[in-house]
Amino acid sequence: MALQLGDEAPDFTAETTEGPISFHGWLGNSWAVLFSHPKDFTPVCTTELGRVSALKPEFDKRGVKVIGLSVDPLGSHTEWANDIKETQGHALNFPLIADSDKKVASLYGMIHPNASDTFTVRSVFVIGPDKKLKLTLTYPASTGRNFDEVLRVIDSLQLTAKHKVATPSDWKQGQDVIIVPSVSDQDAKGLFPNGWKTVRPYLRVVPQPKG
Ligand code: BEZ
Repeated sequence: MALQLGDEAPDFTAETTEGPISFHGWLGNSWAVLFSHPKDFTPVCTTELGRVSALKPEFDKRGVKVIGLSVDPLGSHTEWANDIKETQGHALNFPLIADSDKKVASLYGMIHPNASDTFTVRSVFVIGPDKKLKLTLTYPASTGRNFDEVLRVIDSLQLTAKHKVATPSDWKQGQDVIIVPSVSDQDAKGLFPNGWKTVRPYLRVVPQPKG
């Protein structure tokens, strides 16, 4: 069965551009993003890896480790990294898993045989400090992902984990948020001492908590 939200991220060992890893050991207690791309030396993938490298400080700021994967060998990743640096203006600054035996891709369901039985699709997994899956995304090979959206979801997930608030449609940093339904009005008084706006009993709006 496909991996689902709330499942533990499967553990594995792998070779990466930054040396061998044991995934759970590499995760430690951090948030993480694991994402696959179809193939080295392809145009959309080149732009994606450049973009993630550019955004690395944003992931770092949120305490999120980033790791990529394709079913190409290590030597190919290393050679391609030069192209990423030269064409995208940002050197690869996070590990890329060399999954040429498709071990990790199979474990995470990153190969969708009716799309391609040789390449991984564009999968994204956001993993929490408890090693559970918090978000999964699947994009086709022909569409580069919006990594600002991945950061936006991480901001939302981290707000929920810390402050028991959810985020409305199209929410952006600094905008109002919603008290999660599992928090009673009684408990909300302690959590949000400055009060909230009750639009409906189930829709309680508060300013975004700081920190
Ligand atoms: C790309 O990264 O450009 C790509 C890879 C596989 C199929 C189509 C596009």
